[in-house]
Amino acid sequence: MELSKRITGISPSATLTITSKAKAMKKDGIDVISFGAGEPDFDTPEYIKDAAVAAIGGGKTKYTPSIGTVELRQAICDKLKSFNGLEYKQENIIVSNGAKHSLFNIFQAICQEGDEVIIPAPYWVSYTEMVKLSGAMPVIVGTNAADGFKLKADALAKAIRPKTKAIILNSPSNPTGCVYSKDELESILEVIKDKDIRVVSDEIYERLIYDGLGHTSFASLSDRAKEMTIIVNGVSKTYSMTGWRIGYIASTDLELTKSIKNLQDHSSSNPSSISQEAALAALSKEDDSVEKMKKEFEKRRDYMFERIGSIEKLSCVKPQGAFYSFVDASKVNKDSLEFAKKLLEDVQVAVIPGEGFGAPGFIRLSFATSMENIKEGLDRIEKWLRQ
Ligand SMILES: Cc1ncc(COP(=O)(O)O)c(C=O)c1O
Repeated sequence: MELSKRITGISPSATLTITSKAKAMKKDGIDVISFGAGEPDFDTPEYIKDAAVAAIGGGKTKYTPSIGTVELRQAICDKLKSFNGLEYKQENIIVSNGAKHSLFNIFQAICQEGDEVIIPAPYWVSYTEMVKLSGAMPVIVGTNAADGFKLKADALAKAIRPKTKAIILNSPSNPTGCVYSKDELESILEVIKDKDIRVVSDEIYERLIYDGLGHTSFASLSDRAKEMTIIVNGVSKTYSMTGWRIGYIASTDLELTKSIKNLQDHSSSNPSSISQEAALAALSKEDDSVEKMKKEFEKRRDYMFERIGSIEKLSCVKPQGAFYSFVDASKVNKDSLEFAKKLLEDVQVAVIPGEGFGAPGFIRLSFATSMENIKEGLDRIEKWLRQ
């Protein structure tokens, strides 16, 4: 039977080729060092797990409203107010099965066949495929290391066309770790503020920012910016809750939130009631675990950055957020998939090739792994390149 063209048109995950091979090697007892992790290597904090256990014991095991419980949506509003300085009401919030689900729903809700969505490259692997699944076309706008991989206003202006529906901003970024300053966001707003364009602002790494820098949400720039922005966030990265699957959307556009509610009503229904209780605890009873994790990531980032800088033929823009180093390996091999395959075969180090992020010649190294692994992995890479 012929399968749906919508689905067969999706590219397989570029990260999987290497990570599944690395996993298979590990299973065979081979000593593989993996820089592939897309999630914190810390356990979910105890107070969050306790809340989930209490939810099960307390019978919170039934359907909830498909867009999330009133309590969780209120806790999200409170967090948006206290951390981002933004006022939202419960009706502006939709809780989904992870930020990935939130993003998927947004493109389904805002895009028509033939619309265009601007995506700065390097980009997170799923953006392009989600946009394609909605019937719209991804329009990739390149950035470069000299600009810290940040979208410049003039490049954005050139990419905007009558069919442009939205632009995706991801600060801090996966894979580059770049963080947009308020000024940089303002220059982007200047280009689009009079246009009927949405800003899909993926802020999932907002709490993992280093060097004493802060996070600016695009929505906080002005009333107009808030009106244009659809915030995407979740608990996965901040609270080490990747498996719990809780993400959310905040938007002042009630037509949009209503249509996403309808979509969830008839597709996923509510995210797990137990995970919602856990996320409620995460947001409303936060302890010092986030700050501790951030400190550890910053230490690892500093070490990794220094080591990469000392390896001939590799270079890297210092990541200011998230937990990835995006390394230019083009002086070794412009085909980073081939680079990654050889590295894994020769010295058993797994890295993610840049092709899936729209950046061939680059490799992504996650520092969401122990310092010991980072040291050993970089030693192996250095020795391998010298040979
Ligand atoms: C940039 C970015 N956005 C969204 C997500 C999805 O997060 P969630 O686990 O909440 O679906 C990820 C996860 O890797 C990510 O890196």
